[in-house]
Amino acid sequence: MKQYLESNKQRFLDELFDLLRIPSVSADSAFKNDVRRAAEFLRDKLTAAGLDKAALHETAGHPVVYAEKMVDPAKPTVLIYGHYDVQPADPYELWHTPPFEPTIRNERIYARGACDDKGQVYMHVKAVEAMLATDGLPCNVKVMIEGEEEVGSDHLGEFVAANREMLKADVILISDTSIIANDVPSLEMGLRGLSYVEVEVTGANRDLHSGVYGGAVANPINVLCEMIASMKDADGHITIPGFYDNVLELSAEERAEMAKAPFDLDEYKRDLDIAEVAGEAGYTTNERTSIRPTLDVNGIWGGYIGEGAKTVLPSKAFAKISMRLVPNQTDAEITELFSNHFNAIAPPSVKVAVRPHHGGLPYVTPTDSIEFEAASLAMEESWGKKPIPTRGGGSIPIVALFERELGLKSILMGFGLDIDALHSPNESYGLFNFYKGIETIPLFFKHYAALKANQ
Ligand code: BES
Ligand code: MN
Ligand code: MN
Repeated sequence: MKQYLESNKQRFLDELFDLLRIPSVSADSAFKNDVRRAAEFLRDKLTAAGLDKAALHETAGHPVVYAEKMVDPAKPTVLIYGHYDVQPADPYELWHTPPFEPTIRNERIYARGACDDKGQVYMHVKAVEAMLATDGLPCNVKVMIEGEEEVGSDHLGEFVAANREMLKADVILISDTSIIANDVPSLEMGLRGLSYVEVEVTGANRDLHSGVYGGAVANPINVLCEMIASMKDADGHITIPGFYDNVLELSAEERAEMAKAPFDLDEYKRDLDIAEVAGEAGYTTNERTSIRPTLDVNGIWGGYIGEGAKTVLPSKAFAKISMRLVPNQTDAEITELFSNHFNAIAPPSVKVAVRPHHGGLPYVTPTDSIEFEAASLAMEESWGKKPIPTRGGGSIPIVALFERELGLKSILMGFGLDIDALHSPNESYGLFNFYKGIETIPLFFKHYAALKANQ
């Protein structure tokens, strides 16, 4: 194995570069054909790696890539999940090198999707290839790579429900999260959920002269700003009635355990070039980004934003608002609470509309399972130290659905870093992380097979 990985290092990277050159932006229909090309690329590489049934499965949206290698029905089956779609690369002008021309600088691969999630998906393709080419597979493997994760996995639920038999497995293995640092391995045991809404505030039935009408007619942008500002108090608590009702508070012991994970606040601030962090009173930065829910404006627009000055009292204002959720909040419940509250606080001088986008449930995986143990042992063997269990701040909404539809737990064995700039300009992925992943994944298969056999 070691020998195989060493002698194929450069080829693995060259192939990943080919995948990164395909602009598979799922949100933008202009890239629809490129999204399909990325799926076809993976299908062909899975076939070349020695997997069976590698094919594109059509959905009402972008296709799902599926392949499998069943070596022995007596062995456990690992279902690998990942996504080949990427976030839009905008704003392009902030990239130091073009987003779809992968470039190496300081031992890092710079490209959209380098980490999220093409780099991490491709580690699995190469790890399976390496196992098949050397000692063989200790577990059966199924691979499902979707093309709509970044837009809410709208059609994957349907695909999963319609293919329960094909997707039958013992555990789901996902590399789409982060570790604390390259010398501090960690294993995520939780993801936040998400409720995402778009709001529209309407004042007068048309844009007005801000001199003729200004002062007498509600300005929807001013109103929207006031409404948004009122949704948090001075302590950073969200003021939507009932918002925290189902939030699971961690015990003092659990919080003390979490606080043991190494974290350098000064380094954090330096990296972001901020003088101070900001958030909910009474919680640490790590807690604010993992075990606490949030409410953030992701975009806000309206009125005149062109060159120069236009004296106008706009008719409409808009915002996109996301709320990250924690157990036991549900996106259905929170979206409804938000919508009721937003309507309730709207002054009579405006009309408002709330349109829900995609959402997802939070997820926490038990750490006392043999699945978690196998991942922990794999990382310990490749790093020479035990990974620290962490709760992540991001969301992979489909994970809760996997549990419901397939009855399977997901192991979040990601290899990224927070500094990889996911969804930002200049996204990158460390060469160290790419190769570490390829080396660690076969160890998961090994330990999982052994633990299952002794069960
Ligand atoms: N891979 C991320 C989620 C992630 C990143 C989890 C880092 C933990 C650490 C995933 O691709 C993602 O971006 N998810 C979206 C949700 C989706 C509905 C758009 C997110 O978290 O915003
Ligand atoms: Mn991802
Ligand atoms: Mn993402």
